[in-house]
Amino acid sequence: MTEKIIPPGVDPGVASPARIYDYYLGGKDNFAADREAAEALIAAFPSGPVAARQNRSFLIRAVRRLAEEGVRQFLDVGSGLPTQENVHEVARLVQRDARVLYTDLDPVAVVHARALLAGEAGVHAEEGDLRDPEALLATAREHLDLGEPIAVLLAAVTHFVSDADGPHGLVSALMDATVSGSHLLLSQATADMTSDDTVSKVEDEWSKTSASLHARTRDEVMRFFDGLVLLDPGVVPVTQWCPDEGVAYPSPAQAPLYAGVARKA
Ligand SMILES: C[S@@+](CC[C@H](N)C(=O)[O-])C[C@H]1O[C@@H](n2cnc3c(N)ncnc32)[C@H](O)[C@@H]1O
Repeated sequence: MTEKIIPPGVDPGVASPARIYDYYLGGKDNFAADREAAEALIAAFPSGPVAARQNRSFLIRAVRRLAEEGVRQFLDVGSGLPTQENVHEVARLVQRDARVLYTDLDPVAVVHARALLAGEAGVHAEEGDLRDPEALLATAREHLDLGEPIAVLLAAVTHFVSDADGPHGLVSALMDATVSGSHLLLSQATADMTSDDTVSKVEDEWSKTSASLHARTRDEVMRFFDGLVLLDPGVVPVTQWCPDEGVAYPSPAQAPLYAGVARKA
């Protein structure tokens, strides 16, 4: 049972986004505090698990497309706990030698990623904080060749970074260290598709965890892609980013995140 894995410095009594998300996705790598926080969040916003699955579905579709565009290196920032169809598994269906570095703030996520994902050549998992891009890039250079194009993956992570920490500058700092032909994949929670009352209840519940949630408008999400060339269909609700044919998707109100993928010219 994975509850036995409690890395140094982790307080299992404090809920974390990685483990709440794991619970939403039906995973088992979470503690009682995470399950309680997840249930309180579901009471405030019953579609939370739907939104998590839709975010994951976007990530899978977009990684597949990036691999098809020729991307062979992936820096996954805030990668979360291992689940089904992990990034290297999706990428390697197209690019057999794709290299992936999974990074996360939560040591529990990194321990599980090392145990379950990083056994293969070219797949690694390390701790990393988006709020410290220089350290993150130093770690990335140990495992990826930043002289070649990479894709920086920021799926459902920037909404855990406050405006005071300057999220747009942090994302720019990462992309500035990449070469032409690199890509940015990003999804981020928004209040644009749901009621203010729901957002304030959800933000209130998140504030009781190790993180806080910062919903952003479409314009604010667009700014993450400044200086990059957005791939079609641009920045759209997460369910509307290159939906697979024949699949029924929930309404944006049930999965209120924006998503986009862009290329560095
Ligand atoms: C909602 S999960 C998303 C997981 C995965 N990216 C996905 O889309 O399926 C958010 C993840 O971001 C991580 N996270 C939050 N703040 C972070 C930060 N400042 N730096 C790195 N990771 C962070 C959390 O630990 C969690 O694993």
